[in-house]
This record gives sequence, C-alpha cells and structure tokens, in this order.
Amino acid sequence: MLRKIVVIDESSCVKCNFCREVNVCKSPGKCIGCLSCYYACPYQARRMIDDEVEDEIVKIVVDGVECEVPRRLSVKEALERFWPSSSGLDLRGLTAPCNLGGCWACAVVIDGKLERSCVNHVRDGMRISLNLEGIEPLRIVHGPQPHKVGGKATPWYEVNGYRYVESAIWVAGCNLRCPQCQNYHVTYDNSTKPMTPKEAAEKLTGCKRVYDTPGIAVSGGEPTLNRKWLIELFRFLREMNPGARLHLDSNGTILTEDYVDELVEAGCNNIGIEPKAGRLSTYMRITGIRDKDLAEKYFNNAWSTVKYIVDNYLEKVYLGMGFAYNSDWMSFEEVAEIGEKVVSIDPRIQVTVLDYFPAFRRGDLRRPTVSEMFRVKEILEGVGLRTVIVQTRVGHIGPRDKSIHH
Ligand code: FES
Repeated sequence: MLRKIVVIDESSCVKCNFCREVNVCKSPGKCIGCLSCYYACPYQARRMIDDEVEDEIVKIVVDGVECEVPRRLSVKEALERFWPSSSGLDLRGLTAPCNLGGCWACAVVIDGKLERSCVNHVRDGMRISLNLEGIEPLRIVHGPQPHKVGGKATPWYEVNGYRYVESAIWVAGCNLRCPQCQNYHVTYDNSTKPMTPKEAAEKLTGCKRVYDTPGIAVSGGEPTLNRKWLIELFRFLREMNPGARLHLDSNGTILTEDYVDELVEAGCNNIGIEPKAGRLSTYMRITGIRDKDLAEKYFNNAWSTVKYIVDNYLEKVYLGMGFAYNSDWMSFEEVAEIGEKVVSIDPRIQVTVLDYFPAFRRGDLRRPTVSEMFRVKEILEGVGLRTVIVQTRVGHIGPRDKSIHH
C-alpha cells in the first residue's frame, strides 16, 4: 500500500530532543503517518514521503463488531477509512481536532483503557469501544502557576504589577499551526501524563488559595478542543471556588453558540477570544493554515463568537479580544481596521495586542519595539476603543494610562 510517512531530515535536525522528550512517537520505527511529529518539530526536520509499506492485515474489534484493517494505521484512520458504514456504529463522536496527541478529544477505549485514537496504531486483536459513557475525560495540562498579568481577557483593572491576578493552567493540543507559536512546549506536548477535570480543578484551586488570586485561567494550546473535559473543569472550579473569576483563553475557532451557552452555564464568566488579525490573508499567515476555506471558517467564527457573547452575555461575562502584532505580517492600516471592526461590535470590549516575538519556527522574527506597540495602542484608541492593552518587551501598558506592568 502506498502511503505518506514521515522521515527525519538529518541535515536539518539539531538534536534538540523535542521529539524524544515532548512530542514522542507512539510507533517508533514504523511510521503510521499520523503527522504529529511533522507538525511539532521546531526545526522542521521532518519530511513527508510516499512509501510502499507492508500491508499486513490485522483484526480489530469495535464494540463487538470485527473489522480487518492494514496494520500501519492510527486507530482514528483505521476507523475513518475502513469501518463499514453498514456496521450501524456511529463514528460521528470521533473527532481529532489537534491530531497531535495533546487534547485527548479523539480518545476511545482501547483494550479497556482510555487512549488517543490519533497517535496510537492498530494492533491485531485490539478491542476498541466508542462508548465513553461514565468514563472521565483526560487532557494534558501544564501548571498551575500564578500569573501577575494574565491573558487577553484578564480585567485590566485587576492588574497592578505587584500581586498575582490568576492561577493558570495551559493545556496541550491546538487546531492551528502557527509557525511562531508562543507556547509550543505546551501545544505539542503529547507525552505528559494527562489529568481529569477534577484533578486539574483541585490543583488550580490549591494554587488560588496559596497565591490568593482573584481569577483562575485556562489557556493553551487551545482549551476548547476537548469540550467534555473543559465543561467539567469549569463545573468543578465553580463548585470549589464560588464567586471567583473563571477565565477561558481561546482562539475562538470552534466555539459555537451552544458551546458558549454551556460554558457560561458551567461557571465560565471571563472569556478571551483571539481572532489574531483583521484580514483573512494575515490570519492565514499567522496561523499557518493553508486551506483558505478552513481559515475563513475559523477566522469568521472567532469574530462572530465575540458578537454572540456581546449580544447575549455582556452582563455575565467579562470579554476580551486578542490580536497578534508584528510588522512582518500586519500594517498600521490593518490595526486601524481591527479597531473599527471591534468598535462596530462594542467599543467597551477589552482589546489586548501581543507583540509576537521570535519563537518555534520563526526564530527570524524581529520583536516589535516599544514605540511600535505604543503606536498600535494610539491607533486603536484613536478609532474609539476604550480599553486597549499592549504587551511590550518592558511590560504591559494598560488603557489610558502610562503604567507599565512587568
Ligand atoms: S486529536 Fe488526538 S489528541 Fe488531539
């Protein structure tokens, strides 16, 4: 069978060990083409090639129904490609939004244990169940850590530069492929032991008590990819921390109206959405998404989710938006367009502009200067936004004041 597999490009590999310690292969030496390492390698030292692979056939059993599939496939791909539609089994619940092994949204029960279908390969005799009823969801989590600045939706008036404002976790897995990912050690981690929502909520609650933070935050990676895990996390957090500010930091790409409703109902009262740009072409550059239709869908969804929250939850949810400035991809004209677009929704929305610095695959980026970020702030305030924060190399500069919070 001819299929795409991934090989190491030795001429680009710098032996950084990212693929041995963070994004670790589950089928070493027998690539199944899951592409997790291909997306994760910071030095792009992986190449996709067409290879004639052995087509040994193995038998798997899915919820009691037997199926024959080629051996060198991920569980997800085997189910997608070879599961007979006539079997009557519903595969619609099986989604793999990150395809990196981080979010655990694709998990199924494999030989009695919850496991990820996107990075694990099929084995002869493997027993799979798609019925996750009563099984606790899992997700890879980094932190918690206390934070003095917070994220794009952390209310600016809580930040004074001295006290901790949030206890935060960062979850692995993302559906975007930003070449300058600012948090890639988390995003591409598929090897850390995952946590249940209750375990993560307990750790966050402990951190909040120790550092006396008014808020608790969930960032990433992209937290929304594993809906069941996230909703349960917020329910536990609300129960353990009545009255606290519970903050979701999201790229906004897959949030639907009913998802937002469910989050608010679960206790989330502080949401940050990051459309990143004002123009689709810029968004595609920042996110690394080459498929224009998909990029457009994500981009529009982020903006329309902001509108939905403003129209329905402004009393209950403190909302913030995030944008990614760097002169490499954004002009001051686009900054003004962004401001006008936000003003047309609601000029009170808190807007945070991050000065994207060199990271991951974009070591060549030049970090914006402090004066560039001041100019971005001036432009956004000039079109009527009331709450603008810019991140700079010397700290965050808040709305309508000149204070700098390190
Ligand atoms: S899709 Fe498999 S872990 Fe995210």
